[in-house]
Amino acid sequence: MIAKIKHDIAGLAAIDIIRYIEQKFGASAVFSTSFGIEDQVVTHLLAEAKSTAAIFTLETGRLFPETYYVWNRTLEKYQLPIKAYYPNTQSVEELLSAKGPSSFYDSVENRKECCYIRKIEPLHRAIKGFQVWITGIRAEQSANREDMHAVELDEVNNIIKIHPLFDWTLDEVETFLKSNGIPYNPLHDKGFPSIGCQPCTRAIQPGEDFRAGRWWWEDKSKKECGLHVTTK
Ligand code: ADX
Ligand code: SF4
Repeated sequence: MIAKIKHDIAGLAAIDIIRYIEQKFGASAVFSTSFGIEDQVVTHLLAEAKSTAAIFTLETGRLFPETYYVWNRTLEKYQLPIKAYYPNTQSVEELLSAKGPSSFYDSVENRKECCYIRKIEPLHRAIKGFQVWITGIRAEQSANREDMHAVELDEVNNIIKIHPLFDWTLDEVETFLKSNGIPYNPLHDKGFPSIGCQPCTRAIQPGEDFRAGRWWWEDKSKKECGLHVTTK
């Protein structure tokens, strides 16, 4: 299945990959958006292709105000339903009661615990029952992602992942955004190429790695939250 999809979409433009997913999987596909610039391009392409894929966002409870702003503007512009998944209330209550609101700075283990509660567990609910999971991942985003593929099997979640913008450069994403009047997070113009939760994301300096501002206090090798781990 993976080999067949890889073969079918090889060399296709992103819009044609989205059309292919629509034709083969229709409403059995789901797209995850964090409202980052890549995700905004994918949302635009889904709208253009009149895709019936579901769209969801993981509302961690720790997002930037600017992310809510672009979420609203996206709803206004595209009129597509975006389902919000919130962390389990009891888990957040227990975590904060035991360790306070900023335990993620204390150790990688604590940070992963918070990411699990606020992102991974809700992700499991969000993708359950779907055959294909569409993301805005690009190979250029990190060394880790260069080893990924535009189509892969997520064995943990038993779902096919497709990254339609996998080969796009940052320049291509920015040009596409601006020439199509796509709403985007104002933080992108302030040195934030990658935006996650507010306490765990900072701006980067010129020349720094795209993801240097994510969990900046941690060793480079650990900078993934666990949403995207398995590759094949
Ligand atoms: S992360 O693993 O570091 O958090 P990143 O911010 O690079 O991920 O985004 C990669 C892809 O993961 C996005 O294109 C999007 O599909 C998905 N994603 C990341 N964060 C979220 C979120 N909060 N809600 C929904 N999808 C998300
Ligand atoms: Fe928690 Fe930070 Fe992970 Fe967000 S990125 S879920 S605040 S540890």
